[in-house]
Formats: sequence, structure tokens, C-alpha cells
Amino acid sequence: QTADSLFIINAFAQKFYAQKLLETEEGQTNGLSYLKERGFNKDIIQKFGLGYAPDGRDALTKEAIAAQYNSELLQKTGLVVERNGQLQDNYRDRIIFPIHNNSGKVIGFGARLIKKNDKAPKYINTPENELYVKSKLLYGTYFARQAIDKADECFLVEGYTDVLSLHQAGIENVVASGGTSLTQDQLRLIKKYTSNLTIIYDGDAAGVKAALRGLDMALEESLNVKLVLIPDGEDPDSYVRKVGEKRFREFVQENKKDFILFQLDVLLKDAGNDGAKKADVVNQVAETLSKIDKTEDFTKQQDYIRQCADTLKIDEAGFTALVNKFIR
Ligand code: GTP
Ligand code: MN
Ligand code: MN
Ligand code: MN
Ligand code: MN
Repeated sequence: QTADSLFIINAFAQKFYAQKLLETEEGQTNGLSYLKERGFNKDIIQKFGLGYAPDGRDALTKEAIAAQYNSELLQKTGLVVERNGQLQDNYRDRIIFPIHNNSGKVIGFGARLIKKNDKAPKYINTPENELYVKSKLLYGTYFARQAIDKADECFLVEGYTDVLSLHQAGIENVVASGGTSLTQDQLRLIKKYTSNLTIIYDGDAAGVKAALRGLDMALEESLNVKLVLIPDGEDPDSYVRKVGEKRFREFVQENKKDFILFQLDVLLKDAGNDGAKKADVVNQVAETLSKIDKTEDFTKQQDYIRQCADTLKIDEAGFTALVNKFIR
């Protein structure tokens, strides 16, 4: 009931913002030219239903009230907020990225600043409501699912614009996490389409740490996880723009690292020569390996135990016993 109404309001807002972007002078000058400068073409802008939120206090609010949408529900969508007892637009002078569910209906929005502004967040997103549950969704699944199925591989990137640029370049098996660490629900969503997850993140420490936090969960879902780090200062959006589809695909193939072995490298580097820390690494890796589902993948676990024991310079039989201790 509420959900149905929220879908209707979101559909109205998506149309409103898209019309502003494509058919008004303000939208073309402030929004469309920004997107064009970044290199996005009209096909991709329309495919993903991008929009422009006008700079006014209540451009959308006025039309929504005139169309008799309920004010409580309008606030629930996050499109409208109450300030000083007045209903106003939440997104102003921002690029709008609609977020679709798996049947293509709009469940929420991401709204990006156009002009640099240190006081405002770069992106604002829909607040949690009946439709928009951040921990259960990945941006772009609706547009990626066929390509994921065909490639039997899902690329995971951080941002909306990474998804758009890769699509524009012809790489469509890609979804975005929004930069946060992955949840069990999101991993299950990927597992519905493929067992092969390739995480393509910015090379900065924050991105990697966020990705690592999801590793044990990914193994529990029996996903094969690979990691590709994009060269420093770039993200998939800027990088594919720079080198093109062919070179981007080659880069991914050449730089795919096994995620378990990558985690081991990172932990060992952190531990340095500290004996106690090294012992912690052994335990942590054993715990990670214990998450590999043996009923599905027995030789896989054996192979990893061998490789990790080798890297750790410890006895394989003893390490196997340790891994088994973590299996409940
Ligand atoms: P562009 O700067 O437009 O290219 O976006 P980006 O995707 O490269 O941004 P960035 O790498 O900084 O962040 C990755 C993702 O994290 C974004 O696409 C957003 O989903 C999310 N994010 C970034 N900044 C913010 C923020 O200020 N607030 C919130 N809620 N999310 C953010
Ligand atoms: Mn399949
Ligand atoms: Mn980053
Ligand atoms: Mn970017
Ligand atoms: Mn980025």
C-alpha cells in the first residue's frame, strides 16, 4: 500500500527531473553541459534516466502538491523535506541518479553536487524507507543482469558514474556498492546471477579496506572473489575514459588478484616482523579459509591451504588442523 504510493511518487519525480535536464534551459545549462563535459552521451543519460534538480526552493514540491500527492509520503521518499514549517525540495542544483529495482521501477535516488561545495556532501541519497533499503541493493542490477548472466561474472565498482562509464564503453556486467562494505544480502543478490565476483575499486586504502571486510561473507556465499585495483588517482570511470574498452578489459584480466591471497599479502605487510602479529595473521587467514563451503568446493579449500601455508612458511598439516578448528 505505502510501497505502491512511493513507487508512484518516485516515477513522477524521475520524470520531473529528466524533463528538467533535457528540456529546460536551466537544466541544459547547469546539468546537461556538466554531464557532457564529463563525457556522458545522450543514450546513456536516457537509459539510466538521469535528471536535474532545479535550484529553486520548491520546484518539485509545488508540482507534487498540485498533483495531490500526500505530504507524509512525499517526505518519506526524501524528495521533500520540511524546514521551518514549510515543505521544500531536498535536492537542489544536483544531478539526479534514479536507483532501480530488478524490475526497473525507481526505488530511490542519488543526487550529486554540480559545483564544488565544501559545506555540502557530494552525494545525498534517499533515506531508508519501504522501498529503499541500502543494505539490500546494488546500483545498476536492472541494467546489468543479462550481461552478468552472459559473462558469468559480475564487476563490482564503487560509484554511480563508474557504472555509467563502463556501460557507455560497452562493459555492462557491472554494479556499484556505493563505496561501503558489502552486506550478506548484496552478496546473495550477486550469487543469484553468477558465482564470479570481480571487485574493481579505486587503489586508495579506504576502498580496499571496505572490500576486505566483505571477504569472509563472500566465501560463505560460495563466491569466487577477485580484486582489481585501479591505478592511483583514477577510478573505473576515469580509467576507462582514458584507455578505452579494450585496454580496460586487458587491464582487468592482467591485474586480477585472488582475493584470499591478496588479503594474506595485506595482512603480512601490516604485521611486518612482529611475531605476535604474524600469529594473528595465521589465525585470521585460517578463519577465512574455514568459510569456504567444503560441500561445494573441497579441492578449492585444499588448494588455498597449501598456497597460504607456503606463503606463511608454516607446516601444511598443522595449518589444516587450525582451519578445521574454525569450522563449526
Ligand atoms: P564522481 O565524483 O561523480 O565521479 O563520483 P564517484 O562515484 O567517483 O565518487 P567517490 O569515488 O567519491 O564515491 C563512490 C561512491 O560513494 C559514490 O558513487 C556514492 O555512491 C558514495 N558517496 C561518495 N560521496 C558520498 C557522500 O558525500 N555521501 C554519501 N551518502 N555517499 C557518497
Ligand atoms: Mn548464470
Ligand atoms: Mn575512493
Ligand atoms: Mn569518479
Ligand atoms: Mn570514485
